[in-house]
Amino acid sequence: MADRKPKVVVTRKLPEPVEARMGELFDVVLNADDKPMDAGALAAALADADVLVPTITDRIDAPLIAAAGPDLRMIANFGAGVDHIDVDAAHARGLVVTNTPGVLTEDTADMTMALIMAVMRRLVEGAAVAQAGGYSGWSPTWMLGKRLKGAKLGIVGMGRIGQALARRAGAFGLIVNYHNRKPVSPNIEAELEATYWGSLDQMLANMDIVSLTCPSTPATYHLLSARRLKLLQPHAIVINTARGEVIDEAAMAAMLAAGDLGGAGLDVFEHEPNISPQLLHRPNVVLLPHMSSATVEARIEMGEKVMINIRTYLDGHKPPDRVLPSML
Ligand code: 8YV
Repeated sequence: MADRKPKVVVTRKLPEPVEARMGELFDVVLNADDKPMDAGALAAALADADVLVPTITDRIDAPLIAAAGPDLRMIANFGAGVDHIDVDAAHARGLVVTNTPGVLTEDTADMTMALIMAVMRRLVEGAAVAQAGGYSGWSPTWMLGKRLKGAKLGIVGMGRIGQALARRAGAFGLIVNYHNRKPVSPNIEAELEATYWGSLDQMLANMDIVSLTCPSTPATYHLLSARRLKLLQPHAIVINTARGEVIDEAAMAAMLAAGDLGGAGLDVFEHEPNISPQLLHRPNVVLLPHMSSATVEARIEMGEKVMINIRTYLDGHKPPDRVLPSML
C-alpha cells in the first residue's frame, strides 16, 4: 500500500470541507446523493476498501465484517456511538475501530437542556398555538409549565455528555443526581454538586426529570424497562439524547398514552427512523429527529477526527480515538 493512497469509502455525504480534504489525503469514494447504503452496497464497499467510514445509519454486523476484502484494516466511524458496529467481530478480524468522541459533547448537552426546558415549560406547545394564529390573549392560568429551579434531575450516564449537562443544569437551579457504573471522581462530583445513586431504581423513584446520556451497549439495552418506568413518579419526565434502545419505547409510549408519565423529550428512537405512533401528537411529548449533535461545527470536527484517526493509524501509530473492548 506504500505506493498508493489508501482507499477510503465514506458511506454518507459529509460536509464539503471534510470531503475536499479527504480527497487530498485519500483515494476516497464519496456518497454524493447521500442515500444510505444497503447491505449489498456495504459489502461491495468493504470488499476493496482499506478503510470504511460508516455512520449510525449503517449496520456493520459480523457477517459483513467476515466477508470484507483482504485490504480492509480499519473502520473509522463518523460518530461517537459505535452500537451499529460489531466491534468484537472487527477486533477478531484484526481491524481497528475508531470513533469521534469529545467534539459533540457540548452541542448534545445543549440540546438535552433544550429538551428539558421545552417539556417543562411547554415551549413547543405554546409556539405551535402562536404560529397557528391561535393566540387569543393572555390568561393567568393558561400554558402553565413546571419551574426548573429546585426540580430534581437524575442523569443516567455521567460521561462527557452527562457532565456537560450537569454543568448546564446547575446553572438553571436543577438539583443534580446521577447514576453511573461507578461514581465520578470526588473533584468532579463536588464541582457539579451532583449526588451519586448506586441504585438506579431508587434514583428513578425520586426524580422529577430523568435524562439518559449513556452509551447503548448490551448492558444498557432497555435499561429503562417497563418495570423501571413504573418506578417513576407520575409527574416525572423522561429525556433521551442517548440511544432509543436504552428505553423500552413501547412501554414508555403506553404509559404516556395512559397519562402515567408527565412527559418526554426524545431525540432518539428504538427503531429509527420510525417513531412509536403512541408518541405522536402529544402536547407533553417533544420529538426531535436525532439532531442533538447536528451543528455545522460538530460535523466538521467529527470529520477532522475521522481523518486524524485514519492518517495516524495508517502512518503506523495508535489512533487517538481507538475503541477498545473495555469501553463497551
Ligand atoms: C451522530 C450520535 O449524529 O455520534 C453519535 O453517536 O449519536 C449522533 O449525534 C451520529 O451518530 C453520526 O453517526
